[in-house]
Amino acid sequence: MNLELTTIQSLARSRFGIEIGVSRLQRLAEHQLQLWQKQHQCNLAELVRRLQQANEDSSLVAEFISIITIGESYFFRHREQLETLIDWIKHHLQHRVRIWSAACSLGCEVYSLAYLLRQQNIPYYILGTDIDRSRLNVARNRGPFERFSVRGTEHPPPEMLRVRRHRYYVDDDFAKNVAFAYHNFHSDTYPTPPPIHGLDQQWDIIICRNAFIYFDKPQTLSILEKMNGVLHPNGSIWLSVNDALFDKEEVLFSHRWKGYTFLSKEQAPLVSRPKPVLPPHNPSPPRLNTPPIPAGPSTTSLQRYIEHNRLDLAITAAEQLQTTSSSAVLTLTLGALYARTHQFSKAEQVYQTLPKYQQTVEWSYLMGLLCYSQQQIAKAKEHFSQTVSSNPRHWAAQVYLGIILTKQRRWIKAELAFEEAQEVLQSKQHTLHFAGLIQPKGFHDSALDSLFYVEEQLRRLQT
Ligand SMILES: C[S@@+](CC[C@H](N)C(=O)[O-])C[C@H]1O[C@@H](n2cnc3c(N)ncnc32)[C@H](O)[C@@H]1O
Repeated sequence: MNLELTTIQSLARSRFGIEIGVSRLQRLAEHQLQLWQKQHQCNLAELVRRLQQANEDSSLVAEFISIITIGESYFFRHREQLETLIDWIKHHLQHRVRIWSAACSLGCEVYSLAYLLRQQNIPYYILGTDIDRSRLNVARNRGPFERFSVRGTEHPPPEMLRVRRHRYYVDDDFAKNVAFAYHNFHSDTYPTPPPIHGLDQQWDIIICRNAFIYFDKPQTLSILEKMNGVLHPNGSIWLSVNDALFDKEEVLFSHRWKGYTFLSKEQAPLVSRPKPVLPPHNPSPPRLNTPPIPAGPSTTSLQRYIEHNRLDLAITAAEQLQTTSSSAVLTLTLGALYARTHQFSKAEQVYQTLPKYQQTVEWSYLMGLLCYSQQQIAKAKEHFSQTVSSNPRHWAAQVYLGIILTKQRRWIKAELAFEEAQEVLQSKQHTLHFAGLIQPKGFHDSALDSLFYVEEQLRRLQT
């Protein structure tokens, strides 16, 4: 690796606490850093020199941060988790909810929360922060958002997402009670909410999803500790479902709410309040944009329920369908639906009904996931090993295997598993072909996030 790249790597680490793995750095060098040199019409050595002298708020630093971070985000990402969070708010808070969306990237999460809160007539104040100023500008300007940003929802709500020349803009109305600001997790000052009706200036909710995968354990725990400092005693912190690998319990206590984990200051489960009477936020009922779904159970209606993330309805439809026409695809789908809604024992029962010859590669992968989520690590390892011995290019199973082997200190085997995963992810043949209606995408929400995670693990194993 040349001197400029090494300097870029150490600058990213020392000034912004961002680790760039060797292979990611090489990819940056082949693409984004080339474009950056062209844009400034100078070579990398000169850019590095200017960067070393630049202030935190200079445009060069902003460009650099955009290059080295991955701002992957989209509207209604993990919608089920967001809905669960709102359900938690309904049961625990009786005042205007103050939410900090940390590492908000383009602000999709902020606006998605605003949309869902308005649907429930819950008054709110939301602050979105990020280290990337150019993404924050898009958030503040309410767009433009590319088609890619709405991939989490087949029908973006037209009352919130207005289309102009094939791009999306958030409607004015959804920008009320929403703010955006620059914040670096590695700074010592953490944001607090503005004073609202005499409430303490502490957050009721801190949501920070898909950001911790870029930090190591000491960094993560230090960030969580600082978040804890600005969290209300009855508040909660919600991380991404993918962030479940850290031992956060060293700083905060873990709890479950309707199948989702959150963190709080309290060890004992937080007491649910009686159903709160919230002042109406928007007197007119929210308009919903759910297209008509065919009546009666059919594979089409099942498909539509899944696409709309109405997993409760999807389960009922799949259960009804199963009584009339049982097939391996339907069984796998029902099992995956149970697993997605954390009804693990039901999922297991369903999978067990499959005859041996229909227990496909995907079956052993899903069984692996089930066992893993239930902390049955030895069994999970068996299932993931079975998956990769039938299909070594099953990158998601390789990643889980890598994680288990790392925990078992089987470094060399872990490295091999991660390398296999990396190869598949880099060759872009990463789609898991599951002959059912659900395609479990594996470890992370997007292949890019997964690749980043895999590279990070490899970097750690190799040092
Ligand atoms: C993958 S995006 C997550 C966006 C959103 N939370 C979501 O889940 O859709 C990760 C974000 O973390 C931000 N980030 C990375 N390092 C940071 C730091 N040190 N302080 C604050 N934000 C950071 C990046 O700029 C990026 O926008």
